[in-house]
Amino acid sequence: MKKQKNQFFNLVRVCILLALGTTTGVVFAQKGNVVSSYGPINQTQTFDQIKAGRMAVKDSRAKEHQELLNSRYDLSNKTSADVQMSGGKPIPVGPTAKLSGLTWEQYNGMTPEQIKEKGTFPYKPLPFADHAEGGMLFPQMTIKTIPRLIRFDLDYDMPEWILPDPAPAIYLTTRPDLGDVAKGRLITISNYYEIFNGILNPKQLEGLRLLVTQFPQQQFNATEDRRTDRADGMLGVTCFDCHVNGHTNGASHLVGDMRPQEFRHKIETPSLRGVNIQQLFGSQRALKTVEDFTEFEQRAAYFDGDHCMAAKKGVNILERGSQVHFMAEFQAILDFPPATKLNIYGELDQTKANPGELRGEALFNGKARCASCHPAPYYTDNNMHNLKAERFYKQEMVNGMMMAHDGPIKTFPLRGIKDSPPYMHDGRCFTLEDIVEYFNLIQQLDLKAEEKKDLVAFMRAL
Ligand code: HEC
Ligand code: HEC
Repeated sequence: MKKQKNQFFNLVRVCILLALGTTTGVVFAQKGNVVSSYGPINQTQTFDQIKAGRMAVKDSRAKEHQELLNSRYDLSNKTSADVQMSGGKPIPVGPTAKLSGLTWEQYNGMTPEQIKEKGTFPYKPLPFADHAEGGMLFPQMTIKTIPRLIRFDLDYDMPEWILPDPAPAIYLTTRPDLGDVAKGRLITISNYYEIFNGILNPKQLEGLRLLVTQFPQQQFNATEDRRTDRADGMLGVTCFDCHVNGHTNGASHLVGDMRPQEFRHKIETPSLRGVNIQQLFGSQRALKTVEDFTEFEQRAAYFDGDHCMAAKKGVNILERGSQVHFMAEFQAILDFPPATKLNIYGELDQTKANPGELRGEALFNGKARCASCHPAPYYTDNNMHNLKAERFYKQEMVNGMMMAHDGPIKTFPLRGIKDSPPYMHDGRCFTLEDIVEYFNLIQQLDLKAEEKKDLVAFMRAL
């Protein structure tokens, strides 16, 4: 234990030296325009000064981003009257992407080069609400219940009708007989015990406690460059602030893996349902276990992949055997929602599905080739694929983000997919209709309007 502590302090020392070295390097090379991989640890400004700086650009950056969303998407509220997410919220209906003077049918005859040349690809990478700034950002529907998540400098950007249920259903692989355990309640530190005591074993219960406990993070901590002015916000964030009820609320931040800032992907929170059958974790990193990802989230992702910054802001090192393991154990019993039309192979039951859904399944497995990456029963091949979307757009800066290559991305499972809009690692597809348009272009499928409808009907049944 003592040795561990010493190692930790040595690490802090090395980090501080490194960071000081970098700051000095930047001073010497100011004219040479050095771009550092490190964040500024040696702050020379007070909290009030830093806050004032952020407030000075808040409105203009928000306006710029809203204009971008408006130019790319039809943001008027369109939901389905007869299809709901498991928690009861109507699902959003699209396609929402705006086309610059073309029709979807006209895209079918175009090559990637032509679309790129004309600059008309509808699903370019989506920048973060303030891409140059970054950090964790929580939707209004969650802030309403948990106000400590308010950032003074940045408001959430996505419209609420394209987000998941505010308090999603929870299904446990260990107790399917119970159905939805959450019953419309948002699980937090103040109610998790009374709801789950007697249903979970003590290890899982302790794991869940840690998943709803606040730990320091880049924007939510006690140092001068935090982005909260609330005392309760300074204690940090919890895993379930984003993965609400073990699912997702659409909270977003920037992936920690890339430098400089403009190359970092916006990432939108994935569901934790069904992590038990998955083998890769993270859209790009492909960590191999839920345990690794749990540990990594709090030690590195919380601090933009900057371990020096983490040391300064009070990183909480989870103990692998008794804490990481328990947290992972709880996550691994979060089940996909029930899909009453699927048989034991995860395929449509012919006696329950309607003709549109069955035609959609045939397309999914046949002409549209979706199943080559998303095979039943969970509709993932547990692999990564490079969809090479950059064939369709030019590399250029937009609102502080470089529209660069996505690279290989994890094939996210499609079981329960109607519950987790918006879609793709950065949320660039708001609806399942947008997804079908996206893959119609990416795979050059030439799908007809009826075929697109059928594919959507099939995915709604998953
Ligand atoms: C700001 C919101 C946020 C918080 C807080 C958060 N996560 Fe995540 N989580 C994400 C995002 C976004 C991703 C996708 C990461 C990527 O693409 O690399 C993710 C990915 C994951 C994954 C991998 C899922 C997959 O399907 O690949 C696991 C497991 C996970 N988080 C667990 C946790 C745990 C445990 C905590 C608390 C220690 C936590 N998360 C805190 C947003 C969050
Ligand atoms: C070559 C492999 C491949 C093929 C073919 C493919 N997908 Fe995917 N799919 C992926 C990958 C990889 C992602 C994640 C991409 C990202 O996040 O940027 C994905 C993401 C998705 C998502 C969003 C998942 C989420 O949680 O956000 C949906 C829905 C989807 N695919 C449906 C389809 C459909 C429908 C088809 C056929 C028309 C299809 N896919 C064909 C690999 C593929």
